[in-house]
Amino acid sequence: MKKILCIGAGYVGGPTMAMIAKKCPQYQVKIVDINAARIDAWNSDNLPVYEPGLKEIVESTRGKNLFFGVDIDESIKEADIIFVSVNTPTKTFGFGAGKASDLQYIEKTARNILAASENGKIVVEKSTLPVRTAESMERILNGSNKGFRFNIVSNPEFLAEGSAIADLENPDRVLIGGHQSKEGLAAVEEIAKIYANWVPREKIITTNLWSSELSKLTANAFLAQRISSINSLSALCEKTGANIDEIANAIGKDTRIGSKFLKASIGFGGSCFKKDILNLVYLCEHYGLPEVASYWESVVKINEWQTNRSVKRVLRSMFNTIAGKKVAVFGFAFKANTNDTRESPAHLVVRELLEERAIPVITDCKALPDAKRDLNDALDKVQLTEDPYEAARDAHAILLCTEWQQYRDLDWKKIYNSMSKPALVFDGRNILNGEELKKIGFEFISIGKA
Ligand code: UDX
Ligand code: UDX
Repeated sequence: MKKILCIGAGYVGGPTMAMIAKKCPQYQVKIVDINAARIDAWNSDNLPVYEPGLKEIVESTRGKNLFFGVDIDESIKEADIIFVSVNTPTKTFGFGAGKASDLQYIEKTARNILAASENGKIVVEKSTLPVRTAESMERILNGSNKGFRFNIVSNPEFLAEGSAIADLENPDRVLIGGHQSKEGLAAVEEIAKIYANWVPREKIITTNLWSSELSKLTANAFLAQRISSINSLSALCEKTGANIDEIANAIGKDTRIGSKFLKASIGFGGSCFKKDILNLVYLCEHYGLPEVASYWESVVKINEWQTNRSVKRVLRSMFNTIAGKKVAVFGFAFKANTNDTRESPAHLVVRELLEERAIPVITDCKALPDAKRDLNDALDKVQLTEDPYEAARDAHAILLCTEWQQYRDLDWKKIYNSMSKPALVFDGRNILNGEELKKIGFEFISIGKA
């Protein structure tokens, strides 16, 4: 039985390996992590990652051909194929601080793999990495005189949180990059064979290593750019009486443009978009391409501006003073169907509310534990509740920050009756029926609408 190991049991490693285990009973799949508490959670009923459908897959494979552990060295020694899915945050210090990727975990992992191995293996970059990272991995892995060699393959993950299981089950494509040598191509085929158990061959794309590494950054940059483009125009809509949803619908019908990722919002969040674009910006600067760098940097700038201007707009409608006022924040996750709050625009909103000395009351379907962690320094100034009705009671305004379906289905009349008047609803995701809310009596504001 071939043994697959994944180092890093996070949002990417966990679901991806669970899917491989489900689809490939002929492989033994193991996931290790330096974080023992996280591994304990993966081995429990209370998984550390919330994704619709994930629990069922983990429960049907765990202990059969899917295992979670902290015995990293032993697992490396036994593995034939090692996926590296450790985090690559933005560097906070030294050269490239604020933009470049911090590759210390990647480097440590490579050294760990080398030290614990007794034979050559295929090492797969799953983490999103700057282009040419494989070169550094190779220098570490193949720079010793251990007498065997490693083959590096890039296989970036394109799953989106909240729909990870559906994305893994039916991906638009699987991308595998490798060296164009005999060994490199054989390693690529070995990884392609895994996915071919459930993904049609024509959807498995193979490229050279550098194209694969750079494709991941490019895909995220393009997706984020669409959101910044529509968000930038949402501001013009608010000034002119045009309606951003109508525009998105009209332009999205053009097949050259397409309808996805045109939803105006208070801004994109998540662990990837900002980090990956800043990384791209850093790479362009590094390679002497300042015009390209500033082009992509503007995508991140517009995003920050969008969140900031949204809060200002709400403030203006509340007579520019919210000090001491209770403001309900509906949703803290960076998008619906996840418990992940990394780079969530809701977090920025709450920080701005605190600056204005309002009293934010935060509610979320899944993300309250992470919200509590993120707001650790301000827990005496915010309130957290699972119940949206309780969050809204006596509030002067509701700021909807995450597009949870549950918020569409609330009894808005009941909410209106319990709020301080004039009761304001700001729809930061354009998911509510504004006309109906206005009929109830709410003052209603939404993104990209006058
Ligand atoms: C991460 C990166 O953020 C992303 O760019 C990449 O595409 C995939 O890996 P994610 O899975 O969301 O995404 O990260 P995270 O949930 O933080 O998981 C990484 C895990 O790696 C953590 O559980 C961490 O404890 C673990 N880790 C980190 C190790 O096991 N060893 C290390 O040396 C460092
Ligand atoms: C993204 C990429 O989609 C995925 O392919 C990659 O592997 C990781 O990064 P993710 O960050 O999980 O995935 O979620 P995504 O669905 O892309 O949403 C990112 C942010 O953009 C969210 O805050 C979302 O609410 C926002 N968004 C998305 C919009 O504001 N408008 C849109 O039209 C789409």
